[in-house]
Amino acid sequence: MKDTLQKILEEARQSLQAVTDEKTLEELRVKYLGKKGVIKEFLGQLGSLEIEMRKELGRIANEVKDEVERLLEEAENRLKSLKREAKLKEGVVDISLPVKSFPVGYPHPLTLVTQKMVSIFQSMGYTVVEGPELEKEEYNFDMLNIPKHHPARDDHDSFYVIEGWLMRTHTSPVQIRTMLAKKPPIAVIVPGRCYRRDAVDATHSHTFHQMEGLVVGENISFADLKGTLLLWAKLMFGENTQIRLRPDYFPFTEPSAELAVTCPVCHGPGCPVCKHTGWVELMGCGMVEPTVLKNCGIDPSKYSGFAFGLGIERVAMTVYGVKDIRHFYENDIRLLEQFRA
Ligand code: PHE
Repeated sequence: MKDTLQKILEEARQSLQAVTDEKTLEELRVKYLGKKGVIKEFLGQLGSLEIEMRKELGRIANEVKDEVERLLEEAENRLKSLKREAKLKEGVVDISLPVKSFPVGYPHPLTLVTQKMVSIFQSMGYTVVEGPELEKEEYNFDMLNIPKHHPARDDHDSFYVIEGWLMRTHTSPVQIRTMLAKKPPIAVIVPGRCYRRDAVDATHSHTFHQMEGLVVGENISFADLKGTLLLWAKLMFGENTQIRLRPDYFPFTEPSAELAVTCPVCHGPGCPVCKHTGWVELMGCGMVEPTVLKNCGIDPSKYSGFAFGLGIERVAMTVYGVKDIRHFYENDIRLLEQFRA
C-alpha cells in the first residue's frame, strides 16, 4: 500500500510538472485533493486495517497530500509567470524610451492680462463685480445718459435679443447695477465680455472684453482719477510709464478723457505698436455724470465719482505685440503656447 502512495505521488508530480494550462491544473487539483479524489479514496480504504498500520499509512498519506499541495502551488506559479511573459511579449515596452510629457494647460493671454489688472486694482482696495452679458437696454443705454437717438443704439451696432434686451455693448451697465445695489463708498472693477455688431478685422471683433472701473464717494475729484490711473499704468507697464489725458466725450462722464500711456514697447521713440507716436491710447474715463448718479438714487450734491473703461484685447495686443485680434479667439495652440508661464 505504501507503493500505491508512492505511485500516486509520482504520477501527480509528473502531471503537475507537465501542466501548461489552468483548466488541466484545476482538473488535477480535483483529481488528487478533491472530496472524491485519489487521496481521500486511499484513506477510505484504511478502515479495515489494524491500528498501527492505519496510523503509519495515514501519516504517509498526509505527507503525500502536503507534497501534492506544494506541487500544485508550484505549477500554479509557473503558469502565472508564463502568462505574464506572454503578455509582455504581446506589447513589448521599451523602458529605455524617454517619457512623453503630459500636456498641461496654461492661461489664455487675455486671462493673464485680466488677472494682472484685477490684482493691481485689488491691491488698491477695489472689489471685483460682474454683470450679465444679456442686459437691459435701460441699463446699457438710458440710465447711462445715452439718449435714444445716439448712434450706438442703432440696430446695426448692437445685438438686440428681444424688445428691451441686448447683448451688452460695454461693461458700463454694471456701473448702474452697482450703484442701484450699493450706496457709496464704492470702488469696483468689472471685467467682462461685451458684444458689438462690428465686422471682424485685425482690430475689431463682435465679441471682446472690457474692464470697467467705478469709484463713488465724498470729494472724489479728477485728481483722484488721474493719480489712480497713473499708479495703475506704472504697475501694469513699468515704473517709467507716463500717462496722457486728452479731452473726450462720453454721455455718462463729464468731463471725459481719453487716456494714453507711453508706449510699453519702444518707451518713446516710436514703433509700429504706437504707430510711431510714442503713445498708446488705452481707455475712456471721466467724472461720473451727475445725472447718472441721480438715476441710481445717489445725491450728486453729496457724492461724486470717476469711471473708466478699457478694452482688454487692446492691452494684450500692446503688451504682447499681437497684431491681429483674431489670434486671441482662434485658439491656435502654437500662439497660446507662447504665453506659458
Ligand atoms: N464704456 C466706454 C466704452 O465702451 C468706456 C468708458 C467707461 C468711458 C467708463 C468712460 C467711463 O467705450
